[in-house]
Amino acid sequence: MTILVVNGPNLNLLGEREPAVYGKETYADLVKSITYYGKTKNVKIIVKQSNHEGELIDIIQNYRKKIDGIVINPGALTHYSYALHDCIKGIDVPTIEVHLSDIEKREEFRKISVIKSACINQIKGKGVNGYYEAIDLLLERKLKS
Ligand code: DQA
Repeated sequence: MTILVVNGPNLNLLGEREPAVYGKETYADLVKSITYYGKTKNVKIIVKQSNHEGELIDIIQNYRKKIDGIVINPGALTHYSYALHDCIKGIDVPTIEVHLSDIEKREEFRKISVIKSACINQIKGKGVNGYYEAIDLLLERKLKS
């Protein structure tokens, strides 16, 4: 099984960026942890990050036939990118939306996700564990199919 993990704008600055909200782990730490978690579950993990909406869409489109699931943290694009919503909706790959922080408990604008309805699940506020949970859910789903 292969899962594509996609991270959106500003996630490359983890560790440096608002550590009180996102923690002290760097983006490199996050990638390492997720990749290792996949290994323990016998899942191949491909991790990509971009600060650009169109590039994220290109990545998803290019991988869509080669993967069994997507875990996506779209960053702020969560709250306004209909293009990313349409991209996920338009492909036949189960996708789970993940947020490190609990977007329900922050500013008003973060409470809305325009991505959520294109995904099979949304996990928020669990830090890196949210990515693990998403991998587990996609794995369970695949094993059932
Ligand atoms: C985030 C939450 C978003 O609102 C924010 O813009 C991010 C990170 C999270 O992981 O908690 O960049 O997706």
